[in-house]
Amino acid sequence: MKVRKAIIPAAGLGTRMLPNTKSIPKEMLPLVDKPVLQYIIEEAVAAGIEQILIITNRGKTPIEDYFDYAPDLEARLLQDGKLDEAHKVREVADMADVFFLRQKETKGLGHAVWRAKSFVGNEPFAILLGDDIMLSEKPVLKQLVEAAEKYSCSAVAIHQVPDELIVKYSSVKLKEKLSDRVYSIDDMNEKPTLDEKLSDYAILGRYVLTPAIFDILEKTPPGRNNEIQLTDGMKELCHIEPMCGVDYEGRRYDTGNLKGYLEAIIDFALENKEVGQWLRGFIKEKAESFD
Ligand code: G1P
Repeated sequence: MKVRKAIIPAAGLGTRMLPNTKSIPKEMLPLVDKPVLQYIIEEAVAAGIEQILIITNRGKTPIEDYFDYAPDLEARLLQDGKLDEAHKVREVADMADVFFLRQKETKGLGHAVWRAKSFVGNEPFAILLGDDIMLSEKPVLKQLVEAAEKYSCSAVAIHQVPDELIVKYSSVKLKEKLSDRVYSIDDMNEKPTLDEKLSDYAILGRYVLTPAIFDILEKTPPGRNNEIQLTDGMKELCHIEPMCGVDYEGRRYDTGNLKGYLEAIIDFALENKEVGQWLRGFIKEKAESFD
């Protein structure tokens, strides 16, 4: 199973990060030295993805500009002898073949994904949520692609989360352990109550699905929060086709809320070659001054 295409839904309003996100899409907020979305595209490319469709909405044009060439800026940088900077600016636009589509109506994640039907065509594809960042040795999407190939199944990223989070995310029912971190799945639900949760495992931000999901989503009625939920569509998909959950190795950050965003900034800055060492010393010094 070769997975060449990916969708990044980036149409959300970013209400948890206002006023930052009043004029900057939440996916474009800086995370140390590049915007959140660039990390996600880098993960997709590292997993072998060649074409990426970003589902946007009104107010998201800075995303399109970011992945375009910037002739005036590049010419100016070259003229000033700033070759590294010119290279960085160009590299972003050449990272992958990026396409854009507007969701037009805010009707939920399932609806955003359904909009990508003609881009995807008849092949398996990946979904990476636009504000879920992963820090891992092997890209989390690659872990999913490998499981999907090995077991000829759709694959979703799963992780155990505490009760206070499972009700905000989704839960899955694990059927059988296929290998160390891979389970077959035969049920799931979106934002369950604690009575409804199927396990402590939630689906988190990364998916590899077959195109059969599109016909299902077309008929999926609005669910939780009166939105068309991807989870409701996948629930049906896992009843008719094999699906597995990959308990991924790595750490996830929800950059759509302030705490997750700050955690990501600190962890990614600590990993950064230029400032990591310095930040370690700075944090130690600060920590000593705490009571
Ligand atoms: C979305 C999905 C949910 C998933 C969560 C975390 O919810 O609908 O199934 O568990 O992302 O990746 P949202 O956070 O957009 O409400």
